Amino acid sequence: MALVDPAWVSYEAMVKLADGDLTRVGTAQYDFQLEPALDDLAAAVSDDTELLVVNSPGNPHGAVYSEDALEGVRDIVVEHDITVISDEIYKEITYDGVEAPSIGTLEGMEDRTITLNGFSKAYAMTGWRLGYYAAPAEVVDQAGKIHGHSVTCATNFVQHAGVEALENTDGAVEEMRSAFEDRRDMLVDLFAEHGKEVPVPEGAFYIMLPVADDDVAWAEEAIETAHVATVPGSAFGTPGWVRLAYANSEDRLREGVERLAEHDLL
Ligand SMILES: Cc1ncc(COP(=O)(O)O)c(C=O)c1O
Repeated sequence: MALVDPAWVSYEAMVKLADGDLTRVGTAQYDFQLEPALDDLAAAVSDDTELLVVNSPGNPHGAVYSEDALEGVRDIVVEHDITVISDEIYKEITYDGVEAPSIGTLEGMEDRTITLNGFSKAYAMTGWRLGYYAAPAEVVDQAGKIHGHSVTCATNFVQHAGVEALENTDGAVEEMRSAFEDRRDMLVDLFAEHGKEVPVPEGAFYIMLPVADDDVAWAEEAIETAHVATVPGSAFGTPGWVRLAYANSEDRLREGVERLAEHDLL
């Protein structure tokens, strides 16, 4: 399987569980954009590659892949007959009027794309374990068997909550999206005030901060001295960075940045 780095930590674990091999293609050198990394991706995959995960807007970087970039991916996967898992769990959370295109809608992709989404991000139903996917019928048939014999089904009352979320949330999703956008702007500005230029995320609620070469040591120091929790970039395949989540109030986020600065971590 092929993965575009940095990538959500669970993909690697899932590939290991399935006894698969993983090929990783980095994007940190391109400010986490996919288009400049397409040549690297083309060189990394082969006819033996079965799956490619595309996650846009992405965890941990918040980059949103353009339609041009996704068309480039389409050309590569069609050439090598690769199936794409398009993880679109942050699709509803984008900024600056940007929308995240879905690779499965591109010509030639419908029969080779598994599109995932869920309620944990857009509807803040984290931990309620409700998600959904669209895929070719034969994938749905087989996945249904694994799902039925492992988790059985989504909890009944959470399914009702999902219907409620879809039908009656009115402006709540937009309210959250807009609050996240304000927090993103605030963090980008605060880091700039401390001399740290960060790639500006266009979606999700994460931001990547360049730190020392040893990102694990930096993250340990941040939590022990400044009491600020981050995730080392090396967990996502991108050493030298840490991921911050801004699913918290502006006051708390500002305090977190101030504490990092006070402890000479910026
Ligand atoms: C990229 C990505 N995909 C999937 C998930 C899983 O979401 P859920 O908690 O709804 O299972 C997460 C959660 O953090 C994520 O970041």
